[in-house]
Amino acid sequence: MLYSNLTVNEQGHLAFAGYDTVELAKKYGTALYVIDEDKLRENCRMYIDAMEKHFGGGAMPLYASKALCFTEIYRIIAKCGMGTDIVSSGELYTAVKAGFPLEKAFFHGNNKTDADIEYAIKNGLGYFVVDNEEELDAISEIAGAYGVMQKILLRITPGIDPHTHKAIMTGSVDSKFGSAIETGRAYEMVEMALSGSNIVLKGFHCHIGSQIFECDPFCDAADIMLGFVAEVKKRYSFKTELLNLGGGFGVRYTEEDPYIDIDANIAQVASHVKKRCEEFGVDMPKILMEPGRSIVANTGITLYTVGSVKEIGELKNYVSIDGGMPDNPRYALYGSAYTVMLANRAEEKADFKCSIAGRCCESGDLIQEGVMLPRPKRGDTLAVLVTGAYNYSMASNYNKIPRPAVLLVGKSGERIAVRRETFEDLCLLDN
Ligand code: LLP
Repeated sequence: MLYSNLTVNEQGHLAFAGYDTVELAKKYGTALYVIDEDKLRENCRMYIDAMEKHFGGGAMPLYASKALCFTEIYRIIAKCGMGTDIVSSGELYTAVKAGFPLEKAFFHGNNKTDADIEYAIKNGLGYFVVDNEEELDAISEIAGAYGVMQKILLRITPGIDPHTHKAIMTGSVDSKFGSAIETGRAYEMVEMALSGSNIVLKGFHCHIGSQIFECDPFCDAADIMLGFVAEVKKRYSFKTELLNLGGGFGVRYTEEDPYIDIDANIAQVASHVKKRCEEFGVDMPKILMEPGRSIVANTGITLYTVGSVKEIGELKNYVSIDGGMPDNPRYALYGSAYTVMLANRAEEKADFKCSIAGRCCESGDLIQEGVMLPRPKRGDTLAVLVTGAYNYSMASNYNKIPRPAVLLVGKSGERIAVRRETFEDLCLLDN
């Protein structure tokens, strides 16, 4: 199957991290997110080792929390020695609750409010990744009020089109994020940062997009960023200490997707970076990366129970499940591909073509179309694979559907990381 944590056991059931998924569905109910804790640690280790090995001392992966965010995940990544990228005070609050060392946290986003900035500074945030001029001024002012010298990176737009879905592409000149080199705005931001009070410019950041399978766009981005680093050294005698190359490595969701060797990709980017630093005559900055999806996607699956099976003549077959776009909006939003299977009949012939429909009151509530399954029946357990990234973190209560629980499983046992929402939870904030 797609990953080593997915197997079929003697009962013909899908096993995940060695756990019988049909048993998990019975024990904890569905819909249910299941996360393989050991795989998560393995992925973190792989990034830490690869970055240390190829970029050398001081290089560090920052886990992009937006991919999957709850208290326990910050504890796990902190223990692994990773930093984190956060994009809101809510993520920061979660990290604080987890006791995450905030000196290793980088606060992103194109519109941090004064309240965000104040909250982060009060809690000893390591770095802001500054997006724009207004934000730079606000950080300077608020840091001044707290008597803090605040470390920052500047978000730079390298002008790269990595051929991914346009909703998750971020590095082109017309992006809402950062300041473009091409227009000269990036240099103006450097000048402002260098003359700003209570601000310490440490380096630069770029992120070109998500779900990128080729290595070339990352090398191109590194090229452009190092050219910028060299120009900034020439113009302002500024030494770049940190260069953050963002996230974006693609993930295999289906058999059709290519497999990415992260270690090999990092090796390629690193040799590129080293070569360019020599050519440009700049010291190699400490390199940071921000993997989100490629750390957590293959650590997760979602389990559902089949309800109705509707055969509309020759036209279409719908298999409805007890979840849908509120727990996984990615097909509705981006047409994202997923691998779907019947967990309790994992070895049966899949000869029934169908669309997997959620239970929301709208036609676009689909998890996937054109799926081949053994003809499902009410009560079957349906598994959607590789849902660790951007599923729980993008979940909503649309149609007042409570969010599923997040269950961690691994060699050390099983435990609930986030409990299932109740109906009371749904009205907790209502007056
Ligand atoms: N760093 C920055 C500044 C980012 O904006 C992102 C993702 C990442 C790192 C992590 O990228 P990753 O390694 O996960 O590709 N909701 C969309 C994905 C949006 C990604 C936004 N930024 C989806 O479900 O595909």
